[in-house]
Amino acid sequence: MKNIVLFASGSGSNVENIVRYFQDNSKINISAVLSNKKDAKVLDRCNNLKINALYFNRNAFYATECVLDILKTFNPDLIVLAGFLWKIPENLIAAFPDKIVNIHPALLPKYGGKGMYGNNVHEAVRANNETETGITIHYVNENYDEGAVIRQVKTSVSADDTPESIARKVHELEYEYFPKVIAQLLEVE
Ligand code: GRF
Repeated sequence: MKNIVLFASGSGSNVENIVRYFQDNSKINISAVLSNKKDAKVLDRCNNLKINALYFNRNAFYATECVLDILKTFNPDLIVLAGFLWKIPENLIAAFPDKIVNIHPALLPKYGGKGMYGNNVHEAVRANNETETGITIHYVNENYDEGAVIRQVKTSVSADDTPESIARKVHELEYEYFPKVIAQLLEVE
């Protein structure tokens, strides 16, 4: 049995998609979802999905070993950031080398770094008249969006795409590929 812990800050549609993808897989256990946002929609989704969810604040994350201690109790094989907006502190990266992965809604190294999240990314892709965008699934290191790339998938951007339609295309790629890449990393497929 492989244990997955997810981190999310927002809506959690990727979390829900991953949970549903693995719900009939006896080799995967979703141990918990951890969130830094008390009112994040992902916490409601977890309740409906009957998945453990925990909230932590900035102090717990950056000034104590509290989140590290909680993570250790889950013995995670993989820690998955699915729309998690805070930078991961070094104590967590050191404790789980090559076990933390993130999804970014663009083709890194383009449109990465601080402030490049959510619609900011899709608006920048639109403003620069890109002809393609996509997703990047990568390992997490101490810098935003700079760890080794595991998988990138592209989609085309046409002249009449809006940031909203680009976001929809990117989300579709996320839903299709993120669970599959997680399964490959954990060797359960
Ligand atoms: C996704 O686009 C993901 O790539 C990014 O944050 C977004 C999260 O969306 N890191 P959701 O909360 O899963 O709906």
